[in-house]
Amino acid sequence: MGRVSEALLLKEHLSGQFALFDGSLQGLDRAEEDTVVSTAHPATTPAKPAQPPTQSSVDINGASYKTDSWFNTPPNIIANVPRRLHLQKDHPVYVTRQIIESVFPAPTYKYHNTFDPVVTTHQNFDSLGFPLDHPGRAKSDTYYVNESTLLRTHTSAHQADLFRANLSPGYLISADVYRRDEVDRSHYPVFHQMEGARSWDRANALGGDVAAAVWSDLEKLPTHAMKVEDPNPPFHAERNPLQDDHHSAAEAEAIGAHLKRSLELMVVEIFSRAARAAKRADPDFVDEPLRVRWVEAYFPFTSPSWELEVYYGGDWLEVLGCGVVKQDLYINAGVPNQLGWAFGIGLERIAMLLFQIPDIRLFWSQDPRFSNQFVGVSDNLDSLKRFVPFSKYPGCYKDVSFWLKSTSAAGGSTKANAHDFHENDLMEIVRSVCGDVVEDAKVVDDFTHPKTGRRSLCYRINYRSLERTLTNTETNELHDRLTQALVEKLGVEIR
Ligand code: PHE
Repeated sequence: MGRVSEALLLKEHLSGQFALFDGSLQGLDRAEEDTVVSTAHPATTPAKPAQPPTQSSVDINGASYKTDSWFNTPPNIIANVPRRLHLQKDHPVYVTRQIIESVFPAPTYKYHNTFDPVVTTHQNFDSLGFPLDHPGRAKSDTYYVNESTLLRTHTSAHQADLFRANLSPGYLISADVYRRDEVDRSHYPVFHQMEGARSWDRANALGGDVAAAVWSDLEKLPTHAMKVEDPNPPFHAERNPLQDDHHSAAEAEAIGAHLKRSLELMVVEIFSRAARAAKRADPDFVDEPLRVRWVEAYFPFTSPSWELEVYYGGDWLEVLGCGVVKQDLYINAGVPNQLGWAFGIGLERIAMLLFQIPDIRLFWSQDPRFSNQFVGVSDNLDSLKRFVPFSKYPGCYKDVSFWLKSTSAAGGSTKANAHDFHENDLMEIVRSVCGDVVEDAKVVDDFTHPKTGRRSLCYRINYRSLERTLTNTETNELHDRLTQALVEKLGVEIR
């Protein structure tokens, strides 16, 4: 199974965002395809920041941070930090959080929704056991403030702190997370995740039998009638190992079973709400029986690990990542007697399914034609309605072709350009110059000159506003500015 690879993680896109809809709102991209995208960036060759830092400090959310040569966070990203969509009542991201919280009740689970997005590299990576050469650490993938400070790339950044604080047997975190990424209808550099964990303490288990305690908690959970495919064993020596220095087979099995049931119940809740909303919109709507499957996965901070996929619109769609927490996290957090599970899920992609929202940029829209559609939903989840697109404005695409900068003086090496171009740098320039009026940007030609080894690329930029018709002059101007910025910031030569 090609997709279970280290490169998946921090698996960009995983619990984050994927291509969800085709133009007709039907097709879902297959999970398989996303992995290809997520392995694209070698860890060892971090890109130069798209915008070289010119300041020595930066203000984020009212606090000032020293910057250094690692600083690569543009103003348009920092401007999104105060938006906190997961805290805006009636916003689809907020409603999705509410639905998930309803499946993990207080006081067993304590909710944390206001953690600051500026974290240390220790919190985001080291505390979770990410190796130093992990692709997720590269500047091409992550927004850094300085060498040891960044905008969190996932809610797992708070796991170690919460285990140390030891406030409750379980917790849920919801938060904005930041990743340098491509531009299309299902990727946005800021999105929202939810993290959950449940721990048991050996000291509290009757006779020290944690497995029995976990099974007894599992029996208290509701059951469901959803069809679940789970073909793999609870752990596997090579593919998905048990942490045998720390856990007995019975413990890992019990924790895995509790984790799976809990998350299946969450999926049932979300998708039955989606089906009820569909029925309210169209009484003839026939609800396909829900199918899910567990697949083996890899994360640096859980073992064994899994992803949950849901069969939707004819394809298997990854919805979350999870696993049995690596015991080192508990040990390093000063609670070595605890053990348990954790999961992470992206909220936008779930909200896109729940509300049938076709373009991820809509979440950021301040257009009342978007926000007015959800008024009152937070106070009455049973009034959840599908989004009715207000219009699809005409789009237009423009190509930009360029030669990449030669890195060697001779310019003749076949690898001359391989190391200094990261697509995410281009994507960021697109976002910085054009804001949200670019629907997607995709490479349409990639050519390496057989003699000189010089490489040229052609990108197709698809301009389409969600809110109005763009004028020709406006699009031409934007495209000219974009072209110029590519020359200035990436040193490319326009063809
Ligand atoms: N943080 C992981 C991600 O963003 C998801 C995850 C969370 C996996 C918790 C396992 C446990 O890809």
